[in-house]
Amino acid sequence: MSIGIGLIGLGRHGGRYAQHLLDGVTGCHLVAVSRRDRTAGQAFAQSAGVVFVPDWREMLERKDIDAIVVVTPPNVNHDICIAAAKAGKAILIEKPLAMTTEDARAMIDATQAAGVPLMTAQTLRFTPVLRRLRERLAVIGSLEYMWLSMRVEPAPHHWLEDPKQAGGGVLIEIGIHLFDLIRYLTGHEAVDVWAEIVRLHTSRVEDLALARFLLASGVRCYVEVSRVSAGRSCRIEAVGENGQYESRLTRIEGRKVAETESVADDPTIVSVLEAFARSVAAGEPVPVSGEDGLRAVVMAEAAYRSAADGRPVAVPAAA
Ligand SMILES: NC(=O)c1ccc[n+]([C@@H]2O[C@H](COP(=O)([O-])OP(=O)(O)OC[C@H]3O[C@@H](n4cnc5c(N)ncnc54)[C@H](OP(=O)(O)O)[C@@H]3O)[C@@H](O)[C@H]2O)c1
Repeated sequence: MSIGIGLIGLGRHGGRYAQHLLDGVTGCHLVAVSRRDRTAGQAFAQSAGVVFVPDWREMLERKDIDAIVVVTPPNVNHDICIAAAKAGKAILIEKPLAMTTEDARAMIDATQAAGVPLMTAQTLRFTPVLRRLRERLAVIGSLEYMWLSMRVEPAPHHWLEDPKQAGGGVLIEIGIHLFDLIRYLTGHEAVDVWAEIVRLHTSRVEDLALARFLLASGVRCYVEVSRVSAGRSCRIEAVGENGQYESRLTRIEGRKVAETESVADDPTIVSVLEAFARSVAAGEPVPVSGEDGLRAVVMAEAAYRSAADGRPVAVPAAA
């Protein structure tokens, strides 16, 4: 069985989704695309042999579309999700699930009321090396603390600097990857956060953020994200009682590199789409739920509160 996909958003990241779907993803196929720029949307659809709809709502009426994939700026996610849920479509939404916990909760409630799956595309969970790190974490014994860092080049899009469209700066845009990864890798919830956000070169939202999360297990996780330097890097360092892991799966014992494991890379978007399609077709729970997306937004909101107040704040258990 192959589920029909309606893809909303055909920009930098949505374009990647479209290309992977056209190249072939097991369990799903691209039926229609939507974006605001009609000329570009029509040209793409024609060359790809799919349907273009200028208004995404038209997708919801189509019987050949089983699922909606949303790759738009975050301010659009809420309305699409509520409407798609009412139309009975399965929904996959790029991170951040929503700009606020209130929106995320409304989206989850709407999908639950309609009985449709909602998956959050926390794509880092599908990175092979990080999956392996999760499997291997126990090797270094009891976890003492973690350091998670992601740095990307300055924003190419205007909307990323508009809090009304992005929900904030790097903390929610990029930090959300790492907030979710903390939960994914450790299996524990954050109970407290102390954060600082800085505008080094931006005027409306932060381009550097630092946060210290305290987990229910007592473990501290230090997060650093920025959009100030050319090039990209992502480092996850886990410090355990018996040794350390670096995210390239280099294990350090004492002063020595005890082991370096090589894990082949796979495009995360393909893995996300395949996992989503598999769950929808089988009627099984999606691997990264709306609640997972919500938890990461809860962590981001608490970090913003802490940065505004200049002191540690509690991360609410329920939202
Ligand atoms: N998981 C990851 O690693 C990752 C990486 C990059 C981005 N993302 C996420 O993906 C999302 C999109 O990012 P991006 O970099 O692709 O942004 P982008 O290049 O600006 O693309 C946004 C797309 O959304 C469309 N759009 C905006 N408002 C719309 C509306 N009301 N109706 C229909 N389409 C609309 C735009 O259409 P027009 O251009 O025609 O206006 C554009 O095609 C963001 O949430 C971002 O956080 C995730």
